[in-house]
Amino acid sequence: MTNTIQPQVNGPLMVEGNVELLAADGTSIRKEAKMWLCRCGLSSKKPFCDGAHNKAGFVDAATVSVDYVIKKPEAGTPTANLRLTLRKDGPVNCFGEVSIVGEDGSAWDGNQANLCRCGHSKNKPFCDGSHIAAGFKS
Ligand code: FES
Repeated sequence: MTNTIQPQVNGPLMVEGNVELLAADGTSIRKEAKMWLCRCGLSSKKPFCDGAHNKAGFVDAATVSVDYVIKKPEAGTPTANLRLTLRKDGPVNCFGEVSIVGEDGSAWDGNQANLCRCGHSKNKPFCDGSHIAAGFKS
């Protein structure tokens, strides 16, 4: 099964596949084939979406820059399962084979990425470090 992450227009990240969500300390939070993660930064049920993006007027076209680059995982690392690790006050780190697919069909395929969950990145769905200036807490 291909692991996919699809940012929804003005909404959350829809994640599908062999997925495990972990807290910053490595504790497993959930293993599920499908989940919706907040990326506007305003959900009261973070890391999950609670619909707060609607009330807040969160706007994002949900396109995906295929130029995004992050260091490759170490050689020999198993990648069939997608591990999503929440970074304290920061992005969610994706580790494992994943296709990140935009609304317009643009797709980034890789095995490591950091995705914005504060709502402030200028390169959504990827993190660009804006969470620090934004004072994101989670
Ligand atoms: S989590 Fe939003 S810019 Fe890093």
